[in-house]
Amino acid sequence: MKTLVTAADLQAAIDEERDLPGCAGLKVAFVPTMGALHEGHLSLVRKAREYADLVVVSIFVNPLQFGAGEDFDKYPRTLEADEALLESAGADLLFAPTVEVIYPEVGELGVAAGIAAARAQSKLNPALKSGPVGATFEGAARPGHFDGMLAVVARLFELVKPDFAVFGAKDAQQLFLIRRMAADLFPDLHIIEAPIVREASGLAMSSRNRYLDQAALEVAGHLSKALKVGKAAAETIGAKPSLVINAARARLEGVPEAKLDYLALVDPSSFEPIDDSFTGRALMLIAAVVGSTRLIDNLTIDFQEPSA
Ligand code: PAF
Repeated sequence: MKTLVTAADLQAAIDEERDLPGCAGLKVAFVPTMGALHEGHLSLVRKAREYADLVVVSIFVNPLQFGAGEDFDKYPRTLEADEALLESAGADLLFAPTVEVIYPEVGELGVAAGIAAARAQSKLNPALKSGPVGATFEGAARPGHFDGMLAVVARLFELVKPDFAVFGAKDAQQLFLIRRMAADLFPDLHIIEAPIVREASGLAMSSRNRYLDQAALEVAGHLSKALKVGKAAAETIGAKPSLVINAARARLEGVPEAKLDYLALVDPSSFEPIDDSFTGRALMLIAAVVGSTRLIDNLTIDFQEPSA
């Protein structure tokens, strides 16, 4: 695996692969990450390999998607360990750009002014606005997060020019917004969803789990258990959405260390909350703060038509 830092080197490395004999129609699959890799990320790399001959991974901790007071500065940066993991998972190219490569404004104006300029620039493109969906759930807790996320993902798509891009299902709202943005700006790109990878406790894998000590990890394990209680209520006794939410919420009542932000059921096709008349596949979302770490998770739930 080669690690590339500049856009020109990345392009040259991809072109080099394309120019190999018999590789004219080479397909590229892309896995964007912020590093601090874990088994969940490696499953995305393996998924990418199912679709393409060349698997490109990026590691870039994107300042635009962090708000004031969030963990941008302390976000784990573990490039050497990440490189070793990516090698073992079979990635071909790692793109690990500097902030100036992604946001040239930073090279011209310095970090603070350059990031502000990049943010302002991305706001001019309507396809990079996360809109009303981007202001709910994670977007309500983290204003500006999704606009910053869309800005970097679009920039990375422009640089890598992939045929496929793979994202984890854990960040369901992110994935919804990326699909919508890609349909507008990159209509030939296929967005692939990869299933959530979980610890034995059921906890969804996340780079932020590194912030949790043993006691906090145990608390965090209750989030997925609450989702499972909701799923069981719907799928075994036919509970309606409002009862499903109550059942899941009740599961967390004995766990005050998990500070629940939201527990909600949405229609995955619109990311709008559903009501009790909903039938079909819904997505149950949860977000909670454990210690000072914000955790999210989700699970699909099938609501059947009531039997006559
Ligand atoms: O999910 C993430 O790790 C990030 O939001 C992403 C998609 C790499 C954009 O910075």
